[in-house]
Amino acid sequence: MRIDIVTLFPEMVEAVLNTSILRRAREKGLVTFRVVNLRDYATDKHRTTDDVPYGGGGGMVMKIEPIARALDALTAEACGAQKPRVILTDPRGRQFTQELAREWAKESHLVLLCGHYEGVDDRVRQHLVTDVVSIGDYVLTGGELPALVIADAITRLQEGVLGDQEAPEKDSFAEPILEYPHYTRPVEFRGWRVPDILLCGHHAQIARWRRQQSLRLTRDLRPDLFNRLTLSADDLKLLDEEITVPPKSRKHLPVTSESLEETASQQERGKDTDGTRTRDHS
Ligand SMILES: C[S@@+](CC[C@H](N)C(=O)[O-])C[C@H]1O[C@@H](n2cnc3c(N)ncnc32)[C@H](O)[C@@H]1O
Repeated sequence: MRIDIVTLFPEMVEAVLNTSILRRAREKGLVTFRVVNLRDYATDKHRTTDDVPYGGGGGMVMKIEPIARALDALTAEACGAQKPRVILTDPRGRQFTQELAREWAKESHLVLLCGHYEGVDDRVRQHLVTDVVSIGDYVLTGGELPALVIADAITRLQEGVLGDQEAPEKDSFAEPILEYPHYTRPVEFRGWRVPDILLCGHHAQIARWRRQQSLRLTRDLRPDLFNRLTLSADDLKLLDEEITVPPKSRKHLPVTSESLEETASQQERGKDTDGTRTRDHS
């Protein structure tokens, strides 16, 4: 897949594309990024790309001619192949979502156009682009961050970019549901212990716990998504169930200062330490 980003600030865009997973995807040739400096398509000696707005008012507006020349050149390069999807970043556009990322990830060539200042001469939106997209209801200083957000979301969906373990099907929004919580070492920090269920090695119970956490988080944090979910009979049961560590798996739980204290106090009280340790932090 090829993604072109047309911008007045190529260094800003390159810095992100040359970092971490995007960089690896680029190096492996899984995605071809091309950062296009809009000033290269200005023809006057000052390489002007903006001008004052007709009708007055403050701020500057990005001119149509350099944008049209840049888009013509990029489209011509696609020679023979399907014309690229040309996307204008604009707070007034259609909201970018994971669903849109999945759809656009199937394209062979995207061009992302970054506005700046007051925005872009509206004839660009009317005549030169195929899509107008916003990354949320707030106004940023330029389209570089939105273009990078879109490029990132689409790149990680390309085959081979993420390892199997990080498969995008498991992410939030793969279905209208949030992802379950993750934990890593240490098992205890400031007395905050990782849920025992994740430490017990019982994979079926862990899978049930994760599904339960996803359902509960979505219900509590994003009722709008939750209302779109089709819940199975098992999901409905899971929402109210208390998931505990199966007795046979308790021996796998690591010992921490907290569990040692617990054991000591149970022993003091003369209790059987093995039979009662099933605390779930959900
Ligand atoms: C300061 S903004 C222009 C805002 C415009 N005057 C308005 O009120 O809608 C400059 C550029 O940043 C980009 N931009 C800012 N916020 C954005 C958002 N939420 N989503 C997508 N692009 C955005 C667009 O490319 C826009 O042309």
